[in-house]
Amino acid sequence: MTEGIITAAYIIASILFILGLGGLSRQESARRGNIYAMLGMFIAISATILGSQVTSYGVIFSAMIIGILVGMYVAKKIEMTGMPQLVAMLHSFVGMAAVLIGFSTYLDPSSHFSGVEKTIHDVEIYLGIFIGAVTFTGSLVAFGKLQGMLSGKAILLPARHWMNALMLLVSIYLLIIFINAQSSTMTISSLLFMTFIALLFGIHMVISIGGADMPVVVSMLNSYSGWAAAATGFMLSNDLLIITGALVGSSGAILSYIMCRAMNRSFISVIAGGFGTTVSSSSNNKEVEHGEALSTTVEETVQLLQNAKKVIIVPGYGMAVARAQHIVSDIVKKLQHQDIPVLFAIHPVAGRLPGHMNVLLAEAKVPYDIVLEMDEINEDFSKTDIVLVIGANDIVNPGALDDPTSPIAGMPVLEVWEAKHVIVMKRSMATGYSGVDNPLFYKENTRLLFGDAKESVEAILSQL
Ligand code: TAP
Repeated sequence: MTEGIITAAYIIASILFILGLGGLSRQESARRGNIYAMLGMFIAISATILGSQVTSYGVIFSAMIIGILVGMYVAKKIEMTGMPQLVAMLHSFVGMAAVLIGFSTYLDPSSHFSGVEKTIHDVEIYLGIFIGAVTFTGSLVAFGKLQGMLSGKAILLPARHWMNALMLLVSIYLLIIFINAQSSTMTISSLLFMTFIALLFGIHMVISIGGADMPVVVSMLNSYSGWAAAATGFMLSNDLLIITGALVGSSGAILSYIMCRAMNRSFISVIAGGFGTTVSSSSNNKEVEHGEALSTTVEETVQLLQNAKKVIIVPGYGMAVARAQHIVSDIVKKLQHQDIPVLFAIHPVAGRLPGHMNVLLAEAKVPYDIVLEMDEINEDFSKTDIVLVIGANDIVNPGALDDPTSPIAGMPVLEVWEAKHVIVMKRSMATGYSGVDNPLFYKENTRLLFGDAKESVEAILSQL
C-alpha cells in the first residue's frame, strides 16, 4: 500500500473516531458511535499492517489471533458490574505498551538523529516511558482496589505531597541527564531509574485516593492512557496514534472534570491524591442519633404506588447487582398503563462506571425521554408522591449536603427526601460504596423494603 493511501486511510479513521466520540455523548446515537469507532479501528489496523513498516506478518497475525480470542472471551464473560476493573486493566496494557515501545525505540539501531531533532526524539521517548509507567502501575492498583483485592481505603503516607514533588523533580533532573549524557551507560541508567520512579509514582498516586473518588481515578487513568498512546505516536512518527491518543487523553480529562464537578471535588486535589478521605467523626452511631429506621412491605408499597399521581425511580448499584432492570421496566409499563406517570432520576456517578444506569435502562428498553439527569429532576421530588430507591445509597445521602464532616460532603445528591414517601429497596442496613452511613433511612417519610432488589420488584410487579 502506498504512503498516500495509508495517509488517506488514517484521515478517514481519525474522522470516524471523532464521529464515534460524538455519537457516544447521547444515548440515542451511542450504538451508531460504537459502529463508527469499530469501523475506524478496522481501517486503522488494516492500513498499519499493510504499510511499509511491517515486513513480516507471522508474529503480528499470531498476536492478533491471541488478542482477539482473549478479548472475545473477556467481553462475553465480564458482568456489567465488573466493567470498571476491566477498563482499568485495559489502561494498564496501554501504559505497558508505551513503556515497551519507548525502550525499543531507544534501543533501535536504525534511528539516527542529531542536534535538535535528537533532543526532541529523546524527550518523546522519555515522556512516553514516564506516562506509560505511571499509567501501568496506577491502573493495576485501581484494578486491585475495584476488584476488592486491595483495600478501597486511601493509604496516606506521611508527607505524601512532598514525596510526589520529589519524584517529579528527580524525574526532571534525570531527563536533563538523559538528554545531555555522552555515554550510553549514563543514558540507559537514567532511563531505567526514571522508569522505576514512575512505576512507584503510579502506585503512590492511586493508593492515596479514597473509594469515593475511584470513578474519577478510572477516567483519569483513561486520560493518561490516551496521552501515553499519543507519546508513542510521536516516537513512532505515527500521526493516527497521535490523534487517537490526544482524543482519548482529552476526552478522559474532560470526563474526569465533569465527574469532579458532579461530586463537588476539586480536580487538582483528586489527582494530587488523598482527597475524599477525611474520616467522618459523625459517621458512627447514626442509628442512635437518628432514631429508628422503619421497614415496609410489598403490599404497602403497591398501595402507595397505585394511589400515586407521580412516581420517580432512582436506580443505583444494587439494581445492577440484582439485575432487576427488566422487571423495573415492566413495572413502569404497568404504572403507565394505569395513567400513573413515572420518571427515572439518574445521578452522574450512580453504579460503578459513568453511564452505568443509562446502559442498564437502555438494555431494558426504558424510553430515553423518561430518564432524566440529576440537574433536570432534582426540583421535581417535592412534587412527587413516591420515590422508589432501588439499590442506591450514596447518591441519595442527605449527609452530603448537611454534614460538613461527611467524607462525601459537598457531593450533589438526588434530594429524594423532598418527596411525600420514599421506599428504599436494599438487603440490609449496610453502607454504600463510600462506607458512609445514610441519614435518609431514618427520616420520617422513608421506609425500607428489605430484600434482594430483583425479588422485591418481582413481588411488586405481580401484585400490581
Ligand atoms: P452504593 O452507594 O454503592 O449503594 C448500593 C447499595 O445497593 C448498597 O447500599 C447495597 O445495600 C445495595 N445492594 C447491593 N446489592 C443489592 C441487591 N442485590 N439488592 C438490593 N440492594 C442491593 O451505590 P450508588 O448509590 O449507586 O452510588 C454509587 C457509589 O459508587 C458512589 O459512592 C460512587 O462514588 C461510587 N462509584 C461510582 C462509580 C461510577 S463512575 N459510577 C465508579 C466507582 C465507584 P445492601 O448491601 O444492604 O443490599
